[in-house]
Amino acid sequence: MTNWHKHNPTFEYEELEPRILQHSAWVGHRHFCYDFIRLHEPNLAVELGTHWGASFFSMCQAVKDAALPTSCYAVDTWVGDAHSGQYGNEVYEQVSTIASTLYPNFSHLLRTTFDDARSQFANGSIDLLHIDGFHQYEAVKHDYESWLPKLAPHGVVWFHDISIHAYGFGVWKLWQELKEEHPHLQFEHSGGLGILFPKGINQHYHALEQHWLEHKQAYQT
Ligand SMILES: C[S@@+](CC[C@H](N)C(=O)[O-])C[C@H]1O[C@@H](n2cnc3c(N)ncnc32)[C@H](O)[C@@H]1O
Repeated sequence: MTNWHKHNPTFEYEELEPRILQHSAWVGHRHFCYDFIRLHEPNLAVELGTHWGASFFSMCQAVKDAALPTSCYAVDTWVGDAHSGQYGNEVYEQVSTIASTLYPNFSHLLRTTFDDARSQFANGSIDLLHIDGFHQYEAVKHDYESWLPKLAPHGVVWFHDISIHAYGFGVWKLWQELKEEHPHLQFEHSGGLGILFPKGINQHYHALEQHWLEHKQAYQT
């Protein structure tokens, strides 16, 4: 069985752009995310909703440090939505600079809608799909259902903000439905992160579950 290792990484992006940490509710998951990528070693990772890049660049840091063969794609219009708020072009420009400076060759930015980006990926090709777009129930359900055919056998889907029951967020509701049906793990802190295996578990799952049980508290700091 593959063993889980808890790393102590340097996230290089935070020196280049401190605003990434200030603007994201996601940062509380970056150590778990980093360790997960290094265990799971996805060939293809796709993120729906990147904004300043806290989640995306945390994934990229793991790929870089372990010299994994992973291709990482970030999909976003980089204009914002009703929950994140509208923002200006400087965000995309800075994300683009960080991607090409720190994570060249394997990080790719697709500045378009999730629906328009979908055709660029083959069915069954995505090993890790992170869904963190517009958080209304119908929107996140549409993102999940429309991208599910793209997920590889044993692929994993991450959902951010499964703990938020205010502001018109509905990820929690979709998560309640999905976790009834599929193997999953979850964190409640930093908005909550759901980790779903909708196409079955792979050889890493038991190491992951064991580690999650033992170290869940440590990741929540
Ligand atoms: C919550 S933010 C992403 C946060 C990011 N994952 C982080 O780590 O901080 C959501 C992003 O999704 C984008 N977005 C929402 N709906 C979208 C859609 N249908 N197509 C493309 N981008 C979308 C918004 O522009 C926004 O930047």
